[in-house]
Amino acid sequence: MQSWWHDRETDRPTYAPLAEDVACDVAVVGAGLVGATAALALARAGTSVVVLEGRTVAAGTTGGTTGKVSLLQGSRLSTVRRHHPEHLRGYVEANRSGQEWIQAFCQSSGIPYDVRDAVTYATTARGEEQLTAEQEACEAAGLAVVRDPDPGLPFPVRGALRLAGQGQIDAVALTDRIMADAVEAGARVFERTRVLGVDGTGRRRVRTERATVDARHVLLATGTPILDRGGFFARLSPKRSYAAAFRTDGPAVDAMHLSIDAPTRSLRTSTPDESVLVVGGSGHTTGRARSEALKVADLVAWARSTFGVGEPLATWSAQDYSPTSGLPYVGRLLPTDGRIHVATGFDKWGMAMGAAAGLALAGDVLGEKPPWRDAVRSWRRPALRDAAKAASVNAAVGVELGKGWVSAAMSRDDAAPSVRGVPPCAVSDDGPSLSAVCTHLGGIVEWNDAERTWDCPLHGSRFAEDGTVVEGPATRPLRRR
Ligand SMILES: Cc1cc2nc3c(=O)[nH]c(=O)nc-3n(C[C@H](O)[C@H](O)[C@H](O)COP(=O)(O)OP(=O)(O)OC[C@H]3O[C@@H](n4cnc5c(N)ncnc54)[C@H](O)[C@@H]3O)c2cc1C
Ligand code: FES
Repeated sequence: MQSWWHDRETDRPTYAPLAEDVACDVAVVGAGLVGATAALALARAGTSVVVLEGRTVAAGTTGGTTGKVSLLQGSRLSTVRRHHPEHLRGYVEANRSGQEWIQAFCQSSGIPYDVRDAVTYATTARGEEQLTAEQEACEAAGLAVVRDPDPGLPFPVRGALRLAGQGQIDAVALTDRIMADAVEAGARVFERTRVLGVDGTGRRRVRTERATVDARHVLLATGTPILDRGGFFARLSPKRSYAAAFRTDGPAVDAMHLSIDAPTRSLRTSTPDESVLVVGGSGHTTGRARSEALKVADLVAWARSTFGVGEPLATWSAQDYSPTSGLPYVGRLLPTDGRIHVATGFDKWGMAMGAAAGLALAGDVLGEKPPWRDAVRSWRRPALRDAAKAASVNAAVGVELGKGWVSAAMSRDDAAPSVRGVPPCAVSDDGPSLSAVCTHLGGIVEWNDAERTWDCPLHGSRFAEDGTVVEGPATRPLRRR
């Protein structure tokens, strides 16, 4: 399952793996939007930068995003307001600065950036109440939203919120170009170079499979942080969701729409080809769906019956992390260590916020502090609501851990890919026989029937059928048996 953006961008720059030890000021781990933005800002400031990417540029969530660069974000602002009302304006200002940076970069480099209204709509009475809460949060944050009784969708809705002047992009084209500009400014980029760990005090030694990087600072722009120091995995919930692209006769929608009720439905046209409709939704916690293939089928069936479209041009899936605090975590990995930095917890809103986070991390290294910086810290005193949310996320993780071991022990030996026996073994028809024990912290992986991967229901590590790491906090493959 490859995203429509990856299908479209065929002639992309490539970078060789790291083959020998190197030294630099800043090692950036991960070449999604966050890592690319940080690398460019640092390289342009004259800092020596090395980027280490486990797969290829934009192979992670950035390559599977729906690419809306918006300050109206579904029910996000009312969530932030509930958890941390004092940081609502700062969160919006951070997003605004990321949005302005993306728009200016696209304009100066010829990357398409379509200006569109963002629309959040409700289809239920509960959704209407959520819209009202969202409207109040937007107004408290100074956003000029308007109530729209008819947002022009081909199905009945119970009202919508509209914010003019937002944007939509092809995030693969954007990230490729940011990375190419970073290289032009002096950054060195290495693809297919997975970071396995970071050692040392003072200068840090970043270990990869073949060589090491000696760096003054390390930026972990890896989605969820790959180092367990800091325990961010316990303050994040990994969410997978799905998308599909369809050919249409003309633009099927004239704005970027998002439902506020479940199941989530996200709509936009493609960039620059407006005769392609991109539909997203059907999300769930990673590794906890009965069948991922059914989730894809459900989304495709909804799009076909709602818009009268044919077979999809592409279907794909991607993963992002919801923070238990309502706000993203951007800053130090540990409160006492100013050398290793993280950016995570975008809750499926990491375009504008992702660019802002990349700039914030670069600013931390360079000693520059944007006015909104305190709104998106990696460490802060948790609000009561944050603690309650973290407790419920971790209780569910505990249940999944026990369930995985028990169901492996009780499972029948059938032909379908599954986890069986004691110790639990992951068996698929084409792949090797693997240990089903996740190499992060011992969760039992589950078969993902849409992407043919082994997914961990605890913190979202994912492994290919041959056991190699795809994404998540794990850095080591599943063991062969
Ligand atoms: C389906 C979906 C739709 C979305 N739509 C929107 C949207 O419309 N608007 C919006 O604002 N946000 C959206 N988001 C969220 C947004 O796409 C993400 O928050 C953002 O792309 C995250 O960027 P990133 O750079 O942090 O992560 P990534 O793009 O995942 O980059 C992390 C990189 O780190 C690499 N990596 C990981 N571990 C290692 C390692 N050990 N060594 C080396 N490299 C490593 C990965 O391979 C990856 O390339 C969406 C998310 C999803 C899942
Ligand atoms: S991802 Fe943490 S145990 Fe698997």
